[in-house]
Parts: sequence; C-alpha cells; structure tokens
Amino acid sequence: MASTWLDFWQRENEFDESMSTNFNYFLERVEMHIPLSKNHRVLDIGSGPGNLEDAWHDRVAEMHGLDISKRYNEIARARHAGSPTVCFHDLDPDDYLNFGPVANRQFDVIIVMSVVQYYRNLSEVEQLLQAIKRVAAPDARALICDLMVGESFLSDVWGILKRSLLQGKLVATLKLLVRLRFSHYHTVRKENGFLIIPESEWLAMCERVGLKARFIDEPLTLQQERRNLLINF
Ligand SMILES: C[S@@+](CC[C@H](N)C(=O)[O-])C[C@H]1O[C@@H](n2cnc3c(N)ncnc32)[C@H](O)[C@@H]1O
Repeated sequence: MASTWLDFWQRENEFDESMSTNFNYFLERVEMHIPLSKNHRVLDIGSGPGNLEDAWHDRVAEMHGLDISKRYNEIARARHAGSPTVCFHDLDPDDYLNFGPVANRQFDVIIVMSVVQYYRNLSEVEQLLQAIKRVAAPDARALICDLMVGESFLSDVWGILKRSLLQGKLVATLKLLVRLRFSHYHTVRKENGFLIIPESEWLAMCERVGLKARFIDEPLTLQQERRNLLINF
C-alpha cells in the first residue's frame, strides 16, 4: 500500500515519544539565537504534539502552531487546554502552504523544526520562505532547523549514535533504531525519501525571496550533521 509522509504523521508513530526527549537538546541551545521576550508572538510551523508550546507558552505573549496532522493538533490542544494564549491550527494536507489561519497576524519569532525534509520539492520550500516573509513582523527572527543538507542517511544515523553514546542513551537509541527499521516509518522513508537541500541552494532561495539568512555554526539538534538557518528581518 503506497503511503506518504502526510499519511505517516496522521498515525501513531515511533516518534511520538522520542520527539519530546530530543527536543530538550534544542531548547537548551535555541535562545542563544532567538532571545525571547514577554511581548513576542511566536509561530511554530509543523508544531507536532506542542513541545515548543510546552516550553515557551508562559514566557511569550502568544503562540500559534500550524500542522497538517489533525492527530498531533488534537494532542497539542488537549495539552494546552488551559492556556488561552496558545492556539493550534489545522493546515490542509493538500494545500499546506496556505497559512490562511494566521494570514492576518504578524510574528516576532517563527520556528520550523524538523519539518522541511517532509516537503515534496524545492519550489514548495521557496513558497514556505515567502509565506514566512509575509507573516514576519519588523525585526522578527525565523529559525528553520534540523535541515538535511546533503549528508547521507547512514551518516545521519551515525551522528545520532555518536551523540547518544556521549549522553549515555545509546541503548535507548539503538532500541528506537531497531523499532524504526521494522516500522511503517521504514516503508514510508523508502517510498518517499527526504527532501535534501544543499546549503548553497538554501542561501540562493533566501536571496531570491529577499531574506537575510545565515547558517548557525554550531549544532542545535541531536543530529549534529543537520544545519540550522537563521533569518533576520
Ligand atoms: C518530526 S515532527 C516535528 C514536530 C515539532 N516541530 C518538534 O520538533 O517537536 C514533524 C512535524 O511536521 C509536521 N509536518 C509534516 N509535513 C508538514 C507540512 N507540510 N506542513 C506542516 N507540518 C508538517 C508533522 O505532522 C509533524 O508534526
């Protein structure tokens, strides 16, 4: 049965648990590049189960998550039922670059974490950059993170193993990798692959869209080979 990444995120999957653990690594580093303030309005594109909202909701003015997965949005809404300043919006899986639910808003911080590799092609990513530009407030910062820029799948896995060894989490990581190998994830990855965009292409796209962007030198996520693009408005 053919299956796409869009189908994958609608179902329960192996990342439901591990995503939150890995997110802490990012949280410990992100504020070096995105200083937060009580006035900030935050947009989280591909918000998943609402990890960023868990961490930041009481440190900023408001947070909006956008996701194609109704399942994750339901989980995230349930988690944040008591937070009136946090809102999760469903994106249409057939029109996910239409940010209609937040089109009339402006954001000071825009985060896209571990999402772009599931887009279908470069043209969609350029549309994402244009959509970000439309909703960015003056002086906003956008961070597009955990980008696959050309490393092979195997070196990605090797990076995860090295890091988890250093963190004393090697056994848990090995267990997850074995589970993934025999899971729906493996089938979907084989059928669809990931969208890999070299750094030079990212910078060229940003220039075409008129965005001031640079890659951050140090890693922000556990997969240390992945890169993180900071856009200053
Ligand atoms: C690896 S998870 C990351 C979730 C969250 N950003 C985090 O780091 O905890 C990928 C998320 O992107 C969402 N996603 C995938 N393709 C998307 C798209 N085209 N537009 C918006 N969200 C998308 C998935 O539903 C899933 O919630």
